[in-house]
Amino acid sequence: AISLLQLISEAIRVIPDFPKAMLQPGIAFQDVTTILLDPAAFKHTIEMLVERYRSMEVDVVAGFEARGLIFGAPLAIALGCAFVPLRKPGKLPGATISAEYTTEYSVDQIQMHEGAVQEGQRVVLVDDLIATGGTLRAGIELIQKANGQVLEAACIIELPELRGREKLGGLPLHVLVTKQDCL
Ligand code: PRP
Ligand code: MG
Repeated sequence: AISLLQLISEAIRVIPDFPKAMLQPGIAFQDVTTILLDPAAFKHTIEMLVERYRSMEVDVVAGFEARGLIFGAPLAIALGCAFVPLRKPGKLPGATISAEYTTEYSVDQIQMHEGAVQEGQRVVLVDDLIATGGTLRAGIELIQKANGQVLEAACIIELPELRGREKLGGLPLHVLVTKQDCL
């Protein structure tokens, strides 16, 4: 019998050389939209995250644009906690706080609404994938700026060769699927 994790892992499509704009041939893009096409795989993905966080007294699930929103929102509903979107610059209408991170090609930014996370709140960060760890690192910084407490980061997939984990300052990282040979 195929395990739930196998089901999820096999539902992820790999697209070579995407995104081309990143000028990085050989990258095997892990496309999680194919998880969403498979109701059982999507459901099990969310249920595994719910199991992980059910008893951790989470106040806020914070999900990264774009695909962290898709997995984070149903998790927040199941946990009965708040959901906070972490977005690319200029997308949030209210007053924001920002954190910068550097990619290989640019300096990027993510933003969160001021007041979305309150002092002392227990936060889980959610994204589809950790590569270099820059995105999650910036998310940690954002929550810390709001004086929230980041409990853990959760991703569907980790590309371990890029060693993003090491950028998280010791924060626990929970991943469902580890993809070797991503480069
Ligand atoms: C991808 C992915 C993660 C991030 C991981 O998003 O969805 O959010 O990169 O990379 P890192 O660990 O090296 O920071 P991307 O920034 O391409 O944007 P998108 O989610 O809006 O498509
Ligand atoms: Mg992303």
